[in-house]
Amino acid sequence: MFRSPRGTADILPADQPYWRYVESTAAELCERFGYGRIETPIFEDAKLFNRSVGEATDIVEKETYTFKDRGNDELTLRPEGTAATCRAYLEHGMHVLPQPVRLYSVNLPMFRYDRPQAGRYRQFHQVNLEAIGSPEAAVDGEVIEVAWRLFAKLGLKNLTVVMNSIGDASDRPAYIAALKKFYEPLQSQLCGDCKRRFETNPLRLLDCKKETCRPHTENAPHTLDFLSATSRAHWDELTSSLKALEIPFTSDHRLVRGLDYYTHTVFEVVPQEDGAQSTIGGGGRYDGLIEQLGGKATPAVGFATGMERIILNLKRQGVTVPGQRPIKAVVLHLGSGAKPHAVSLASSLRESGVTAVLAPGGKSLKAQMRYAESVGAAYALILGDDEVRQGVVAVKKMADGTQQQVAIGEAARALL
Ligand code: HAM
Repeated sequence: MFRSPRGTADILPADQPYWRYVESTAAELCERFGYGRIETPIFEDAKLFNRSVGEATDIVEKETYTFKDRGNDELTLRPEGTAATCRAYLEHGMHVLPQPVRLYSVNLPMFRYDRPQAGRYRQFHQVNLEAIGSPEAAVDGEVIEVAWRLFAKLGLKNLTVVMNSIGDASDRPAYIAALKKFYEPLQSQLCGDCKRRFETNPLRLLDCKKETCRPHTENAPHTLDFLSATSRAHWDELTSSLKALEIPFTSDHRLVRGLDYYTHTVFEVVPQEDGAQSTIGGGGRYDGLIEQLGGKATPAVGFATGMERIILNLKRQGVTVPGQRPIKAVVLHLGSGAKPHAVSLASSLRESGVTAVLAPGGKSLKAQMRYAESVGAAYALILGDDEVRQGVVAVKKMADGTQQQVAIGEAARALL
């Protein structure tokens, strides 16, 4: 027996209402904020992610699905949406459009070779949004507002926005020097990953969740203390606009995020309850990325959230979502002559907008009625040879067992 590959899941009919709910709520909200929908390919040139997400990040070091195709091109299954959206911005010359260009995606499959657990998969799906071409703190605020309103509109409660500013390339060297000075004497106490990070990507030392390293992060220097006046002004403007929007947030000096392209604002949305530690969404500003990918310097900011994590939290919090269309009518048929009439009755019911299925053939009336009950139909429509001869159908209301005869042509109307 085959099973779905480790870390992947089938999305079965019972779960589809959650997916549809998240997808339509996100699409409607993003469009209300002026974002246009974009879909990029599932795989891209491997170098795109190495250069953007960063060679020394967990994602590129350990988690990408990279392969050579038959033409010997090295490709990577997309682990995130920002790099591909920026690649599309450049490829399609979107810099000539009014800036910022606001783009969103929903239901986009992403692939990371992660250790699977609740809320962490190897194939997962993101809602992703990017506002490319504006340096304004108001646009960072807008992106955080979309994230916040999305979770609120979906009915999720008890979430917090956690934020930090990691400054830009000119703020970074002094901070990294201070951080290395702080960690220098602690090196022997660090986990293997952090020993490596000390050399390759010191900012990520702050991100380590291991017990050996966590206490040190508490006392590490704060990026906010190393911001230039301009970077500080950006942070101050953003935090005051969030206050004006009444979006609650806390700042955490350890938040640096796991992707290399961030500058200035970084933020995550996290559930408050104990045990539900998984970040539900995250994002930030990435003013250097477009230039790094070969475009001219273009500031940008964005956010992504995992649809599986949203659905997990919707279920945890008992949020009800609009259900799947229930089966309204089952058409029962008795006798070989009635069957083709039952087939065309079911078909005409559907044409009139009624969700209808045919009862399985070759079964007794009782067995067909049990079938109608088991699928939760509101009505059983019974056609035997007599009914066909008279041009009528018996309509049984399953809730109270009452039955009436109606003309076949009137059946759909009798059910509405
Ligand atoms: P990220 O924090 O790597 O950011 O991922 C965003 C969200 O995707 C996470 O908060 C989580 O909900 C979901 N996610 C990530 N990995 C997994 C996984 N293995 N299984 C299930 N869900 C997962 C980014 O991807 C950035 N591109 C966000 C961004 C957009 N920054 C700027 N613009």
